[in-house]
Formats: sequence, structure tokens, C-alpha cells
Amino acid sequence: MGEILNVTNLSKSFPGVKALTSISFDLKKGEIHGLMGENGAGKSTLIKVITGFFSRDDGKIVYNGADVNFTSPNEAVKHGISTVYQEINLIPMLSVAENMFLGRQPFKNGFHAIDWKTLNDRAQKALALLELDLDVTMPLGSFSVAVQQMVSIARALDISADILILDEPTSSLDAAEAAQLFKVMNKLKNQGMGIIFVTHFLDQVFEVTDRITVLRNGAKVGVFKTAEITRLELISSMLGKELGEFDTDIWHHKDSVHGEEYLSIEKASKAEYINEFDMTIYKGEVLGLAGLLGSGRTEVAQLFYGVEKPDSGKMKIHGKPVVIRGPKHAIEYGMGFCPEDRKAVGIIPELSVRENIILALQAKRGIFRFLSKKQRNEVAEKFIETLNIVTPGTDQSVKNLSGGNQQKVILARWLAANPELLILDEPTRGIDIGAKVEIQKLILKLKDDGLAILFISSELEEVVRCATRIAVLRDRNVVKELTGKDINEQVIMKTIAET
Ligand SMILES: Nc1ncnc2c1ncn2[C@@H]1O[C@H](COP(=O)(O)OP(=O)(O)OP(=O)(O)O)[C@@H](O)[C@H]1O
Ligand SMILES: [Mg+2]
Repeated sequence: MGEILNVTNLSKSFPGVKALTSISFDLKKGEIHGLMGENGAGKSTLIKVITGFFSRDDGKIVYNGADVNFTSPNEAVKHGISTVYQEINLIPMLSVAENMFLGRQPFKNGFHAIDWKTLNDRAQKALALLELDLDVTMPLGSFSVAVQQMVSIARALDISADILILDEPTSSLDAAEAAQLFKVMNKLKNQGMGIIFVTHFLDQVFEVTDRITVLRNGAKVGVFKTAEITRLELISSMLGKELGEFDTDIWHHKDSVHGEEYLSIEKASKAEYINEFDMTIYKGEVLGLAGLLGSGRTEVAQLFYGVEKPDSGKMKIHGKPVVIRGPKHAIEYGMGFCPEDRKAVGIIPELSVRENIILALQAKRGIFRFLSKKQRNEVAEKFIETLNIVTPGTDQSVKNLSGGNQQKVILARWLAANPELLILDEPTRGIDIGAKVEIQKLILKLKDDGLAILFISSELEEVVRCATRIAVLRDRNVVKELTGKDINEQVIMKTIAET
């Protein structure tokens, strides 16, 4: 089939950053084209230049046979290019339906009034495509991040477009939700739509794409037919090197002994939140929480951290009874919590990378023990290096970093705070595969240094890799604890599935 989009020699710079260097890219009708590369490689920038969100410095974009230069994303939409941007840019206070038709509400004939019935019906229909059945009159903010992500996809699907662009649409979705999205993508592809799909999940890119374009440091590395490239070839073309330590001995830590008890909780529960459970966390261990989305993993962590108060239960820290009144109190007791929803909770966009990183450390030290600029820079630089954060310097506003690099900054903040208990909720979500391995190694090093770590991840592979002990959750119950040889994917999956 014919080409629908042809990009040649596209370049784009930001102050101090060459984001795109003479990129060529083409999309055919009826194909799903994966766009891959490390955090900061230029994927989102390429998309945003195509849709007119950013102006280009140089290069040519031919769409449906004609030169185009969109001056705004809206113009691209009107011409049939529909995009789900990496940032969910919807409005939590508005209803689901209002969000879906933001800026293009149906009006009643001849009246200047929004036609609510049509609006809600159409929203419901669009969501049904993704097999989502919601009360579309409820505020969007009352739903989970996953649902919000599905709504932003449904919003784009509603337009009968020639091109659909999805920038990491699946980062918060569980396997079933992602599968549903892929079904819809394949249907649209078969109707002749061209789809650009950005993801860091290798499984997904191999499952759904026809071709893959790889970017590295703002340049194109190559374009491959998905059927003709192996996972290892793809990874090494993304990283520009082999991923050596990936499956070797550094992960042999299952028999490791832990230190003293840090925290214990007995008969804790909160109605409609988490059913009664006991848990102990030791220093020098990584306790993994495994379970499906909605099984109660985050809820357990939130009880420890004082985000929610349990209805019942006794909590002890270092053997002494405590009642955690809220997150600030939890920090005083030595806890750190890197939340799942880092966009909403984490980033302070206008502040520099450095100030975002040292925030928790400074808070822990208190206002009377200020870190000098030199100390702050040292801490920031250390984590920029370890986590491979792509930024022109520590002074850069965090809002100018790529999505994945912003995630790394928040993670660095909690790693730098050096707490006694570090709670990590999906710490590698949206983070590229090279940095992911670095983060996993760092977690194991922190464990060896004596930190207690509570590790939550939907990716079983990484729970298995990092955890020294695993608590399995199902339907808001802590159902089983796994140690030693039982820490493997098969046993975890069986435990999750048992009824
Ligand atoms: N508005 C901006 N101002 C300054 N620099 C920017 C801006 N937007 C992006 N950049 C820089 O351009 C480079 C490419 O960023 P981009 O967002 O395209 O990466 P990406 O491949 O989408 O990464 P990720 O996987 O993390 O989403 C990065 O170095 C980023 O810091
Ligand atoms: Mg991006």
C-alpha cells in the first residue's frame, strides 16, 4: 500500500539540545509503525513537529502527497492526524464525556447550548470501542490513571482520521486493557489507517507493529521490518551497544539474609480498600508486591505511608507502636514513597532538575540545615549520571525534559533522600530498557547498603529480578508470601490465578 506520510531531513533544536538531526521517516497506509529509542531520543519531539505542536528548524513533511506545515495540533487534527500525546492533557474536574469532546462539543440545532444527551451518548459509544463501560457524567479525576489513559485514547479514536499517533498510550494499562487497544489498532489498520506507536515495552512492539524506526540521540539509527529483527538486535540498536549484564549473575541474591525489622503491621484493614493483612518489612531486603492492577498493591503502600488511615490494625516501627498521621509524618519516621502517578504528584515543572532532585533530601534535613549549592549540584550530578538522565545540565527546568527523564528525576529524588524504607510504586514505568536495568541494579545496591525496599511493579519479570521476598495480592487480600526458589514467574502467576 501507498505512503501516507513522508518526512525527510527533519531537524529541531532547543536551547542547548539538538533534539532531532536530519530525521527521515515514512508511514504507509494500513501499517502500524513502532517508534523506539531511549528516554530523550527524540520520539515525542518528532511527533510534535509532525503535528505542528513545535515548529521545525529544517526539513520537509509530505502528507497525502502534499507538502504540509501545520502551525498547531488542531490544524493537524482537522487534516486527519489524530494524536494521543504522552502527557495526559485532560481536565480532571470535567466529566469523562466533556473531556472527550473538549473544544468540539455538539450543539443543539440553532441554540447556543451544548447537547448533553448527544455528547454523553457519543462518549459512551467511543468508549465501548475499547470495551469500557463508565458513567461518562462522572468527573474524569475520579477514575484511575489507567482509565484516564483509555479515555484519552478513546478521545482520539472518535475522529475518523487517516493517521493515528499514540505516544506511550499503554504505560498505565494492564495486559487486558492493552490487548483491547491492540484489537482496535489492528481493526483501524485493516481499514487503511496508518498508525505510529511509541512504547518502551518490547513485547508490545513485537506483537503489534509491522515496522520499527529506531532513534538514538536525536538521529535515526534505522528502520526495520518487525518480522526480520530480533529483540537483542532491536535493543542494541537502541542503546548503541550490547546489553551485556542483562541476564547474568548480578541477579543471584535470592538466598540473601535480611537485617533487623523496620516495620510491622498486624491485622490492618480499611473498608473497600484493603482487607485485613499482616506484613513485616526488614532492613536489607526488597519486598516485592505482586498482583494484578487493582489487587491492592498501592493500597498497602499507602497505609504504611499515611496517605490513607487504616480502620484497624497495629503498626510498629523499630518495634515501637506508631500511628502515622500522614506522609510528612512518615518521612520523619524514615520513609520515602515514589508514587505511581508521578505526573500528578511529583514534578515541580518550573524548578530545575537539581532542585527537583534534592527536594526530599532537603525536607528530611529540615530548613535549618540547608545544603550548599555545591552539595546540591553534587547530589544532582551523581543521579544524572547513575540514572542516565538526559539533560543539558542541572539548571534545566524539569518541564523541558522528555517524559521518561522526568520520571527518572522523581525517582532520583527519593533515592537521594536515603530513607530507611523506600517505597517504589512502578519505578521503571515509561523508562527505557537501558536505564531500567540501571535502576534495578541500584535497588539491589541500596538493599545491600541496608535499606528496606517495598517494590511494586506490574512487570513480573522485574519483580522476580529485584525481590528477595514477595507478597502476592489478589482482590484486595494479601494471599501468600513467596521466598527462595518460589520467586519465579510461574509460581507468582499460579498464585495470582488460584481461587
Ligand atoms: N520544550 C523543550 N525544551 C527544551 N528541551 C526539550 C523540550 N522538549 C524536549 N526537549 C529535549 O529534547 C530531547 C528529546 O526529547 P523527547 O521528549 O523527544 O524524547 P523521547 O524520545 O520522547 O523520550 P521519552 O522516552 O523519555 O519520552 C530531550 O533531550 C529533551 O530534554
Ligand atoms: Mg516521549
